[in-house]
Amino acid sequence: MNALPRPASGPAPDEAKTAAAAPALALRRIVLSDFRSYRRAELAVPAKPVVLFGPNGAGKTNLLEAISLLAPGRGLRRARIVEIERRDAAGPGWAIFATLDTPAGERSIGTGRDPAGRGPDRAPDDEASDRRVVRIDGAPAKGQAALAELVHLLWLTPEMDRLFDGGASERRRFLDRIVLGFVPDHGRNLAGYEQAMRERNRLLKDGRLDETWLGALEQSMAETGVAVAAARRQVVGRLAIAAEAALGPFPIPDIALAGETEAELGAAPALAAEDTLRRRLAEGRRADAEAGRARAGPHRSDLVVRHRAKAMPAALCSTGEQKALLVALVLAAARLLKLQRGAAPILLLDEIAAHLDAERRAALFDEIEALGAQAWMTGTDAQLFQALGGRAAFFMVAAPPGEGTTLRPAPQPSSTR
Ligand SMILES: Nc1ncnc2c1ncn2[C@@H]1O[C@H](COP(=O)(O)OP(=O)(O)OP(=O)(O)O)[C@@H](O)[C@H]1O
Ligand SMILES: [Mg+2]
Repeated sequence: MNALPRPASGPAPDEAKTAAAAPALALRRIVLSDFRSYRRAELAVPAKPVVLFGPNGAGKTNLLEAISLLAPGRGLRRARIVEIERRDAAGPGWAIFATLDTPAGERSIGTGRDPAGRGPDRAPDDEASDRRVVRIDGAPAKGQAALAELVHLLWLTPEMDRLFDGGASERRRFLDRIVLGFVPDHGRNLAGYEQAMRERNRLLKDGRLDETWLGALEQSMAETGVAVAAARRQVVGRLAIAAEAALGPFPIPDIALAGETEAELGAAPALAAEDTLRRRLAEGRRADAEAGRARAGPHRSDLVVRHRAKAMPAALCSTGEQKALLVALVLAAARLLKLQRGAAPILLLDEIAAHLDAERRAALFDEIEALGAQAWMTGTDAQLFQALGGRAAFFMVAAPPGEGTTLRPAPQPSSTR
């Protein structure tokens, strides 16, 4: 549980900084059916960064959301399965089909709404109608964890601009997405922890103090909770070092993890941390019942970020500085992932040019090239990406009335307007 797997054949650190070869992990073709504003769309792209431009409401973020569903979870909007379905769709449910270049060769992923979740006997909020199915290389995958073995991807969306101002849960989610790239089982552990916690909350709320049942749930929370905390701790430790590498105009973030279980893992073995968490949960039942939630456990941890040069908590930095800190964190995670997995993650950078000045934009593009990452970038104006030149493929996203969203290759923007 404690040891992160080592890279099988990752490049040497120096190489990782300078290589500008084609991304080893890249989406090459994606087909969408009844996915949000897309009736049916097909896009074939080269193994290099992609720019999607077009007016507000054209369907740029929808496409990034579709790509984000090639990883486990609910995608970059955290949407419910039924919300994703194109309104007015009459078909068998939304679907995404993708082929990718991976270090293990060409692979395909199909995912979509579980057909069993549809039909006249199903209410729209039925649990089964909120499930998605996954096929890998044509064969049904048991669960979404198989996706984490195959693809790793990270995203930045405009909603995340307030990541440092808001509550800890968004920062945990941001961190957990990074951890998932290193520990494919992280998603399973998190889901197991949350499920046991929900069930315990329900028992406590109903006043059903069944010792055996509560004890079993707390045991499960302790095991999965310590696995979650250990994975976060190791990744944050490595990320803090990776983030030390100065990236031109991007600030160096100091990062740390705040959480009791994570802290205990620094001083004691995992089994001792499990005992502590289980004991704290058992002792806290009465107070937890009153509070309506568990007051101990890694669901309360936080990712603490500071702007090193300014010696300032991230939350007190300007909007642009916060964005630059976030970009620095994502790039550090991408560098580490490349070392670990032999391929940089696919990056989904929605409206990335907003809040970045021309110097930072150019530095970001250079870093993406050096990483060899297939970054998908969106914006309303192609000119914002002009510094990428031929290093990216450009596509225009449009929504002609009555047609659903369309995608068309476009020339790279020229230097004069
Ligand atoms: N389930 C759905 N069915 C049909 N259309 C949908 C569905 N969900 C969202 N849409 C529509 O998809 C359109 C495109 O949304 P999207 O967020 O992708 O736009 P965008 O190109 O990213 O725009 P912006 O530049 O404003 O961010 C919106 O008009 C939205 O109303
Ligand atoms: Mg958008």
